[in-house]
Amino acid sequence: MRQRVTKAIFPVAGMGTRFLPATKSIPKEIMTLVDRPLVQYAIDEARAAGIKEFIFVTSRGKGALEDYFDHAHQLEYELRTRGKFDLLKILESTNMESGAIAYVRQHKALGLGHAIWCARRLIADEPFAVMLPDDVIAADPPCLRQMIEAYEDIGGNIIASMEVPRERASAYGILEVSEDFGSYFSVDSMVEKPNPSEVQSNLAIIGRYILTPSVLANLDRMQTGAGGEIQLTDAISQEIGAGGSKVYGFRFTGQSFDCGSKIGFLKATVAFGLSDPHFGADLREYLQETVARHHDH
Ligand code: G1P
Repeated sequence: MRQRVTKAIFPVAGMGTRFLPATKSIPKEIMTLVDRPLVQYAIDEARAAGIKEFIFVTSRGKGALEDYFDHAHQLEYELRTRGKFDLLKILESTNMESGAIAYVRQHKALGLGHAIWCARRLIADEPFAVMLPDDVIAADPPCLRQMIEAYEDIGGNIIASMEVPRERASAYGILEVSEDFGSYFSVDSMVEKPNPSEVQSNLAIIGRYILTPSVLANLDRMQTGAGGEIQLTDAISQEIGAGGSKVYGFRFTGQSFDCGSKIGFLKATVAFGLSDPHFGADLREYLQETVARHHDH
């Protein structure tokens, strides 16, 4: 039996400059996609995958994110006394068990690898998940659940991956395939934000990982990589080859949205809105009319 994956790290220390001015006063992870903050999608996905401990790596100005996970006792009381049980149910579904969430502060913006390293003492010597809440994935079963199921089978390090247009390679970590097994493949090499001409592959890393604790030990070396930052991609890449643990790319079933960008956020809003049972049909009609009107211009 493999050791179960029960801990997940959520790096949320980024400044969110791509969403200025909104992120002047609110953390981007709190921005609302349809009716809930981005971070709630990641938490729900983690819970569906059996995660029990949620480790947030935060930074200055993320207070609203921490408050979001407090139980809203007054509000719950009001809804109960007014008989608004549907709303109460929604609210209660966001409540987390006491002690299930831990916050670690990243004191300096030194990169994603460094953010993960900041949580090393809470992970200790166990396999763990990493979820980047910017990457919202619509999938059934949820993406991390698919990955945990694969992990139970193959072990090692598992990285969610999808094909991207080659000219977009420089926005991602890119995985080169060594042996292809269909839904997953073993990774030969991986490089963070390459020049598209440097890589053979167009398989990008999407923000879901299951990692062995040895990756944390690799991060101890504090080597800087792309953009002068300490990169998670580099620390995982050091596992490839003799003596390291296996590294796999995982082709999840589902659709990923880059909610760290404005266009990605808008697309996610439309996609999630269209699949909403209450107003999806209304939205579809509105979009069709709007698009037709734009055509006439
Ligand atoms: C991070 C990772 C990158 C990955 C991307 C997915 O980059 O470093 O390998 O492809 O997330 O969203 P970031 O988007 O934080 O620059």
